[in-house]
Amino acid sequence: MKFHILIFFLVTLTYAYPHVSSLRPAAAVCHSPDADKAACTIVTEQWTNSTWRAAQPGAVQWETFEAWPERNESCYIENLPGIPCGQGRISLYSVLAQSAAHIQEAVRFASKRNLRLVVKNSGHDFLGRSATAESLQILTHHMKGTRLVDDFVPEGAPKDGGEGAAVTIEAGVSLRELHTAVGARNRAVVAGAANTVGAAGGYVQGGGHSFLGPWKGLASDNALEFTVVTADGNLVMANKYQNSDLYWALRGGGGGTFGVVVNVTLRTFDETPVIFTTFNVTTINGNPNYWEALTQFHAAVPGLNAANGAGYYYITPNFPLEGNLSASALTGYLVFPNQTDPAKAQELFNPLFSKLNILAGVRVEYTSVPFPSIRVFLENILLRDDKDATGTIRLLGSRLVSRNLLCSTQGASRLVSTLRSFEFYPGRTVFGHIVAGGAVAANGQTIDSAVHPAWRKTAVHMFIEREWNATATLAEQDAVRKNLTNVEVPLLRSVEGPQAMGAYLNEANAYETDFQASFWGENYPRLYKIKQKWDPTGLFIVRRGVGSEDWDEEGFCRCT
Ligand SMILES: Cc1cc2nc3c(=O)[nH]c(=O)nc-3n(C[C@H](O)[C@H](O)[C@H](O)COP(=O)(O)OP(=O)(O)OC[C@H]3O[C@@H](n4cnc5c(N)ncnc54)[C@H](O)[C@@H]3O)c2cc1C
Ligand SMILES: *[C@@H]1O[C@H](CO)[C@@H](O)[C@H](O)[C@H]1NC(C)=O
Ligand SMILES: *[C@@H]1O[C@H](CO)[C@@H](O)[C@H](O)[C@H]1NC(C)=O
Ligand SMILES: *[C@@H]1O[C@H](CO)[C@@H](O)[C@H](O)[C@H]1NC(C)=O
Ligand SMILES: *[C@@H]1O[C@H](CO)[C@@H](O)[C@H](O)[C@H]1NC(C)=O
Ligand SMILES: *[C@@H]1O[C@H](CO)[C@@H](O)[C@H](O)[C@H]1NC(C)=O
Ligand SMILES: *[C@@H]1O[C@H](CO)[C@@H](O)[C@H](O)[C@H]1NC(C)=O
Ligand SMILES: *[C@@H]1O[C@H](CO)[C@@H](O)[C@H](O)[C@H]1NC(C)=O
Ligand SMILES: *[C@@H]1O[C@H](CO)[C@@H](O)[C@H](O)[C@H]1NC(C)=O
Repeated sequence: MKFHILIFFLVTLTYAYPHVSSLRPAAAVCHSPDADKAACTIVTEQWTNSTWRAAQPGAVQWETFEAWPERNESCYIENLPGIPCGQGRISLYSVLAQSAAHIQEAVRFASKRNLRLVVKNSGHDFLGRSATAESLQILTHHMKGTRLVDDFVPEGAPKDGGEGAAVTIEAGVSLRELHTAVGARNRAVVAGAANTVGAAGGYVQGGGHSFLGPWKGLASDNALEFTVVTADGNLVMANKYQNSDLYWALRGGGGGTFGVVVNVTLRTFDETPVIFTTFNVTTINGNPNYWEALTQFHAAVPGLNAANGAGYYYITPNFPLEGNLSASALTGYLVFPNQTDPAKAQELFNPLFSKLNILAGVRVEYTSVPFPSIRVFLENILLRDDKDATGTIRLLGSRLVSRNLLCSTQGASRLVSTLRSFEFYPGRTVFGHIVAGGAVAANGQTIDSAVHPAWRKTAVHMFIEREWNATATLAEQDAVRKNLTNVEVPLLRSVEGPQAMGAYLNEANAYETDFQASFWGENYPRLYKIKQKWDPTGLFIVRRGVGSEDWDEEGFCRCT
């Protein structure tokens, strides 16, 4: 049995270490006894600003994980000022790391004293793995260095072992900052479609999907080297020549588990033009042809995907319009990298559109726009705003859907009839991400990494979102969690069966059951062994992470 010792030793921290500060939840200034009107005005204004949240040691992106329902502790800004503010899962102290040396010192400090340790980068994690109650936090957000090279040679490689053009980024670089740094040098990089999500933390370590995935693979497929502070406080390089077991695990094994990544090197690619297409398929709410249209769409996904088409779509069966009208909508967009001819892109959609056009009451809108480069496309479309919509309560449930299913005769209709059994309040949406296939599938032949092997068979990463009101009682919150975990995720799993495929660990249910199989499939035993080798005492324990089953839910006690 092993316990993490909590606050006890931490009171001395602020005196001994200049980069350490003690923490309260961001909204504490809006509640007694810490109420401060001016400070509360600022916090209120910034509440949904993801850039601000990323930088705050006293916040993560989702209110869900700032709260600690098991202890009935929360600090919602929505609550009345008289309601006391609980610390929840906000760390007690934070190390605002600026260098590898700071991280090493923090890791050694925590290890020596048996502290509960957590790494926060942007705080976007949907499983709450960057928020841990009664913990010492290492905040990597401020580490922003980037360096591009024409021919990256991994440490320990032979003389002719150059891997070609690459970028090395430090732990706190965001997806937007990465795209911008690389785009400015007329290069492209596989990275996701978000602004303030971190590139080197949970994103790449969890696999990392992107609208450029079908073109060039997962982000982690393109990670050439990691510099890592391990649980013993040492700084090590992990690549295919040295510490290759760690290198394998860091590409898909999940953030916060094997050490603290100080920087990562990612392959870059020649800039390329892209065709951007949008589609909007609608009916009046209640027209059964909507579901038939969804079936036809899903059956067409593998074909679009085969041409490197990638993107995002939104299924909203109860789409509120003005007045009392309601539509059913399927909207989305796909990009086709390294293509310049809009007519060719439309040809890919035409077989689908002719099937949709004969369905009564189904309306199809389609546009396509050529962009001269990925950079210009990002600036004008994907990353037009500079932040992401966060600052609310959110849980996800998800499943990877296979290409085989969608190509089989009844597969698409089986998927759609399952979707149809979900409850759709006005505006409630099922999200489809077409971010696999193409190079993601092909890389399965050449790249051995920890990502769930199901990724190589995936056509669509599909998820639902669930939420509750800040005023919801604990029982109401629990009802949403239970329904998600016991009813809705099992529905998604049932389409292909619980043993087939899996779920993307970065965008999944925070209460996922049988998470080892869901997130890693047959890779789990190897990951577990590597975890024991590099972190035998369990310094880095995250929710539903590798090895977390040996600990209680909060990672306090190795007593299960
Ligand atoms: C708006 C939004 C858009 C998204 N878009 C995409 C997308 O396009 N593609 C995609 O694949 N995913 C996407 N995601 C999911 C995203 O990959 C995860 O939320 C991921 O956990 C974010 O990593 P982070 O480091 O920024 O977040 P954090 O919450 O700070 O950290 C996540 C996990 O990684 C650990 N960690 C962070 N930094 C380090 C480090 N340096 N070393 C070791 N461990 C570390 C943390 O301890 C935690 O366990 C999106 C999420 C959101 C909210
Ligand atoms: C969001 O937060 C960032 C970082 O604190 C800040 O620079 C920016 O001005 C904020 N945006 C708005 C709209 O307040
Ligand atoms: C949780 O805390 C709130 C606010 O302090 C209180 O009103 C509520 O009764 C508590 N609920 C439980 C189940 O203890
Ligand atoms: C990566 O980390 C190592 C070790 O701290 C450092 O020497 C190197 O300069 C870093 N690279 C970048 C681009 O920051
Ligand atoms: C773009 O396509 C051309 C022709 O198929 C190919 O030669 C080139 O390598 C591609 N560019 C990139 C960056 O993949
Ligand atoms: C799709 O069509 C619906 C109904 O005509 C419309 O309300 C909606 O704005 C359209 N959405 C997009 C993204 O074009
Ligand atoms: C919407 O429905 C309500 C109740 O059925 C009705 O009173 C109202 O007039 C309707 N509004 C419109 C714009 O049709
Ligand atoms: C649980 O989820 C299903 C599917 O979305 C829904 O039909 C049902 O109403 C939900 N039950 C509860 C209690 O929320
Ligand atoms: C949240 O709760 C408040 C107060 O009970 C209520 O007015 C509001 O409609 C609720 N919002 C949602 C989305 O349920």
